[in-house]
Amino acid sequence: MTNQSREELKKEMMAEVDMKNIPAHIGIIMDGNGRWAKKTGQPRIVGHHEGARRVKNIVRFCNDIGVKHLSLYAFSIENWSRPSLEVSALMRLFSTYIIKERDGLNAENVRFEFCGRRETMPPKVMEELDNIVNYLRKNTGLTLTVCINYGGRAEIVDAVKAIIQKGYKPEEITEDLISQHLYCSDILPDVDLMVRTSGEMRTSNFHIWRAAYSELYFTPALWPEFDSVEMLKAILAYQKRERRFGMTSEQVQA
Ligand code: IPE
Ligand code: IPE
Ligand code: MG
Repeated sequence: MTNQSREELKKEMMAEVDMKNIPAHIGIIMDGNGRWAKKTGQPRIVGHHEGARRVKNIVRFCNDIGVKHLSLYAFSIENWSRPSLEVSALMRLFSTYIIKERDGLNAENVRFEFCGRRETMPPKVMEELDNIVNYLRKNTGLTLTVCINYGGRAEIVDAVKAIIQKGYKPEEITEDLISQHLYCSDILPDVDLMVRTSGEMRTSNFHIWRAAYSELYFTPALWPEFDSVEMLKAILAYQKRERRFGMTSEQVQA
């Protein structure tokens, strides 16, 4: 498909979007960089660089249509098991990419957050990410949360540890209390729409707690191929769903 017909398709799809029902928090499992690299005969790390280049467009598009939170799964706790060269190239990529995009994100009024286990992050990368968080702190548009060294189970374990350290009694433990002790708990709400690229149909430990009632959307597109038309397909699919949260259809429609 040419760029022009892709633009026309985007316009047609935009006309179908219900602007009053935009998911407030979209989480994306950005998968398939390695397969994209293989398909195009390049090393895996080139796939990661190409994947990083897609981020800006998706952030801009989501911000433009009024998404409040976009959280991107960039590196799981389990990803430390990858070859060390790939791991170190990815860590370098995270800070260089976000430093490069800092002013563009600022011009678009985007806020930035880190979500993951801070203690085992490489200190230099953590420091650079914290600097960007501070730099964009005053912005009021979309919050871009990058999940690095993130695992949904690890997040719950860390929340439980913090709760125990504060001396809470068993009868004081509630769902709200656990929510309040998750990473970025003061910022990040539950996930409305969770998207995974590359055809895999699993959540790989992403947002275990916050995604309890997310709508799930899977696409065969590899992350480096994911554009605003693909995002629109996910949003239109989301808008056709009925979110019942345990109720009956009649109750939801009343
Ligand atoms: C996703 O792409 C990016 C990270 C997990 C860092 P992959 O690197 O998992 O790509 P595939 O799954 O090998 O194609
Ligand atoms: C999930 O992708 C993690 C990220 C996208 C960062 P993986 O490629 O690591 O997931 P699995 O191993 O296929 O489940
Ligand atoms: Mg993968």
